[in-house]
Amino acid sequence: MKRIGVLTGGGDCPGLNAVIRAIVKTASDLDIEVIGFRDGFRGVVMNEFLPLAPKDVVGILIKGGTILGSSNRDNPYHFKTEKNGETVYADLSDQAVANIEQLGLDCTIVIGGDGTLSCADDFMQKGVKIVGVPKTIDNDLNGTDLTFGFMTAIDTATDALEKLHTTAESHHRIMVLEVMGRDAGWIALQAGIAGGADVVLIPEIPFTLEQVAKRIFERKNRGRTFSIIIVAEGAKPVGGQQVVKRIVSGSPEPFRLGGIGGEIARQLEEITGFESRVTVLGHLQRGGKPSAFDRILASRYGVAAVEMATQGQFGMMASLQGTAISTVPIAVAIKELKTVPPEGELVQTARSLGMSFGAP
Ligand code: F6P
Repeated sequence: MKRIGVLTGGGDCPGLNAVIRAIVKTASDLDIEVIGFRDGFRGVVMNEFLPLAPKDVVGILIKGGTILGSSNRDNPYHFKTEKNGETVYADLSDQAVANIEQLGLDCTIVIGGDGTLSCADDFMQKGVKIVGVPKTIDNDLNGTDLTFGFMTAIDTATDALEKLHTTAESHHRIMVLEVMGRDAGWIALQAGIAGGADVVLIPEIPFTLEQVAKRIFERKNRGRTFSIIIVAEGAKPVGGQQVVKRIVSGSPEPFRLGGIGGEIARQLEEITGFESRVTVLGHLQRGGKPSAFDRILASRYGVAAVEMATQGQFGMMASLQGTAISTVPIAVAIKELKTVPPEGELVQTARSLGMSFGAP
C-alpha cells in the first residue's frame, strides 16, 4: 500500500478532523502517502485534492468542522453542472472513478453517514477500493453502536436544555427545544434524559398534543409551573406528517426537516394557557470542538481505517460494538436506518424517569 485517499462527505460534525489526523499519522508511520479530496465526492468528481502530511494535521484534533470541506448536496450520479448557461444534472461517477484510478489510490477512506456511504457502496461496484468510517450527529447509521459527532451534539443539546430550564422556571413557561436527527430520535431522547426534559417527542413514537398537555397539567397539579419539551425535527403527530423545511434539489437526501417545534409551542399555548416559546438549536449541534469522548472515538476509527486498508478489508466500515472497535460491511451499515426502538431500554428508562413521549 503506497497511497490512500480520504474524503469527508455529508453534513459535517465534530470529530472529522480527529479522524483525518489519526489517518495521516497512522499512514505516515507505515510510509503511506495520503491525499484528501476537497468537499466530499465533489472533489473526486472535480479532481480537487490536497496532500496530507503529518505537518498538515498539527493542531486539528480539537477543531470542529473538516479541513477538507464537505458537501451534503453533491451527488456524483446526479451532479450539478452548467451547460450553455443552464443548470443540468449529469452522471459523472465514471469521471470520478477515473480520477481515483489516475491518482493511483490503493484505497479511499470515506468518512460519512448513510448518504455518503451509499455513494461509496456504488463506487465499490465500479471496482473502487473503499473503507468506511461512520460519521453523523444523528447516530442513525446501522452496524455501529455509535457514530462520532453524536456525543458532542448530545452535550450541546443538553447544555441548551439546562439553560432553558432556568428561564422557563422564572417565567412559568413551556419551553420547546427542537433538535436535529432526521428520521431518528437519538439526539432528542438522549439529550432529553441528560437534560431532564419533561416531554420527549421522537419520530419513532407519534404523539398527540392531548397527551403532551396531560403531562403539563399533571406537573401543574404538582406545583410545577413550567415544562421542558425536547422535540426531534422528524417527530410527527399520530396520523400526521413530518414538517419539511426545504427541499435541496440534487442532494442525495433532498428533504430538510424543521419547524415542528414552532407548531407544537403555538398549539400548546392555546391548549394549556401556558405561555410557550421555541428554540431551534439547528447547526449549533454540528459545530464546535469535539468532546473528549468524540476525540477518542474519532481517533480510534481513523487508526482502524488505515489498518483495515492495509489488511485489504475493502467494502468494510469501522464500527463500535460494545466497547471494542470492529468492522462491518458497508452494505450492512446502509441497509436500513438505525432508529430508536420504541420499546427499547432507553425509552423505558426515560419513561421510568417520568418523561412523557406524548403517547399513552
Ligand atoms: O444529517 C445531519 C443533519 O444535521 C441532520 O440532523 C439535519 O436534518 C441535516 O443534516 C441538516 O442539513 P443541512 O446542513 O443541509 O441543513
